[in-house]
Amino acid sequence: MLKANSHILVTGGSGFMGSAFIRYLFEKSSFEGIVSNLDLLTYAGNLSNLRSVEREKRYRFFQGDIADISLLENIYRQDPIDYIVHFAAETHVDRSIETPSPFVHTNVLGTYHLLSFILSHPHIHFHHISTDEVYGSLGQQGMFFEDSPYLPNSPYAASKAASDHFVRAYQKTYGISATISHASNNYGPCQHREKFIPMIILNALHKKKIPLYGKGDNIRDWLFVDDHSAAIWKILERGSSGEVYNIGGNCEVNNRALIKQILKLLSKILEEDPKSFFPLVTPVKDRLGHDFRYRLMTQKIEKELGFYPLNDLTSGLKKTIHYFLTQESQFT
Ligand SMILES: NC(=O)c1ccc[n+]([C@@H]2O[C@H](COP(=O)([O-])OP(=O)(O)OC[C@H]3O[C@@H](n4cnc5c(N)ncnc54)[C@H](O)[C@@H]3O)[C@@H](O)[C@H]2O)c1
Repeated sequence: MLKANSHILVTGGSGFMGSAFIRYLFEKSSFEGIVSNLDLLTYAGNLSNLRSVEREKRYRFFQGDIADISLLENIYRQDPIDYIVHFAAETHVDRSIETPSPFVHTNVLGTYHLLSFILSHPHIHFHHISTDEVYGSLGQQGMFFEDSPYLPNSPYAASKAASDHFVRAYQKTYGISATISHASNNYGPCQHREKFIPMIILNALHKKKIPLYGKGDNIRDWLFVDDHSAAIWKILERGSSGEVYNIGGNCEVNNRALIKQILKLLSKILEEDPKSFFPLVTPVKDRLGHDFRYRLMTQKIEKELGFYPLNDLTSGLKKTIHYFLTQESQFT
């Protein structure tokens, strides 16, 4: 599908995963096209995530809301868009439990407006970034397939599920060119400090309490963010419209064990006794409706597109810890 000189509009490109994808595009020698980043710069967006590319002639930044069709038309007039890769979203489950309305605005209505824009420019391919959380929660066994039923449990997951349904419906009803991917939990450089892995690293560095929901039994499959970017590239290059792809990290671990692994790595890097970190871990009241486990079956993207994650949990965590250690001054 993808041509080397395409114009790719990335929404939410100043956030964690969108910025990783933009940096990936500029590192990819076979991509010679234009990258536009449309981002509202909410609390989660950070321009410094893209310092390394901001002077590139092929990079453009537009601050604004994905629901603003006139801004989308303006971006299009400057250079016709070939692809939209849609990362922009409200993403923090705890915030969605406290105040769901921004999740409805951006995740549902924002996606709807992007799809409406595409109806006027039907040659654009739309890739929608979704999550494993739309499938609900698993017990100790089992996996989610691309056609597993949707059973979202948090307002965040419900808003992402609604947006997925709109993408599917626009592809089926109006014949737009669209693909959807469901990723497991991403981690890596530039992730917002409110998320689990950055919070563990930064709190440990500053000797602050590390809150652990319940007993820490909840299980997630962790995907290093650069592997996610590589998977999205494969989908743009070789995926087919109407298809859905699961992207997993093959690194399943419960929250308690994950904290332990991070603290051990950190103490080794800092040459400190791990015992100085472990007492920081503080059990707190469990999250409302906390999903026990997510796990994606990823055979489809492996067999059809040849995508396999390159980073195991140790290598990804080392890179992530290194980033937060070198950027620590930002977070004091
Ligand atoms: N982080 C994960 O583990 C994970 C896993 C699977 C899927 N996803 C999905 O990946 C995407 C990116 O997640 P992330 O962790 O990078 O998010 P993030 O919160 O780090 O970044 C979101 C970005 O979207 C921007 N944004 C928010 N509302 C906007 C609006 N109305 N218009 C334009 N820009 C807006 C923010 O300013 C921010 O830069 C989301 O769609 C999320 O649902 C995330």
